[in-house]
Amino acid sequence: MDDLDDLVAFHSDPEVVRYVPWPVRDREQTRVALEAKLTQDRLTEEGQWLVLAIELRETKTVIGEVLLKWASAADQTGELGYALHAGHQGKGLASEAAQEIVRLGFEELGLHRIVAILDDRNTASAQLVERLGMRREAHHLQAWRLKDEWCNEFVYALLKNEWISGRSGSAASDQD
Ligand SMILES: CC(C)(COP(=O)(O)OP(=O)(O)OC[C@H]1O[C@@H](n2cnc3c(N)ncnc32)[C@H](O)[C@@H]1OP(=O)(O)O)[C@@H](O)C(=O)NCCC(=O)NCCS
Repeated sequence: MDDLDDLVAFHSDPEVVRYVPWPVRDREQTRVALEAKLTQDRLTEEGQWLVLAIELRETKTVIGEVLLKWASAADQTGELGYALHAGHQGKGLASEAAQEIVRLGFEELGLHRIVAILDDRNTASAQLVERLGMRREAHHLQAWRLKDEWCNEFVYALLKNEWISGRSGSAASDQD
């Protein structure tokens, strides 16, 4: 609960929550949301979201969160999510956190495929998943209703074998 002030700073920002399924939250709503997150520290059954804080190493300030849903046990599929305080965007920090939760999903949780589903206007999010090596698989029109409007979604995906070959490619280029 010590992270509440840090969370309020971005959960209350209309720009940060514009394309996510949560409303703009005041302090009390953020407190309730944080209380729920405290129990979301492991995946024990399909449908659950693992929620991890993104913390600045130097100050220990929580500047965002990165999420992984256990979307399907039978298909070993996960779904990625993330949100970052506007003042810390544009530095590669969300990508760093997303890379780590993707690694966790493939290496430690045994996932075969990780997807990301995003509003087609959310270009910062599309750039992030493309930076992770995800492929755009689908464009669904008016697929979900968000904040009183029908929204189009992009579906991105990454297979474990694509992730492994992407990593060995970047390891090779690091050595060049
Ligand atoms: C989606 C979101 C997390 C992306 O944040 P971000 O900081 O732009 O993402 P990244 O961590 O990938 O950073 C990329 C930017 O950092 C820059 N950067 C600087 N150093 C970098 C590094 N070492 N590595 C990667 N990028 C770096 C990139 O050039 C890029 O800048 P640009 O946007 O000017 O091109 C953020 O916009 C957000 O929180 N949005 C609101 C919540 C949301 O919509 N979530 C997604 C729901 S699907």
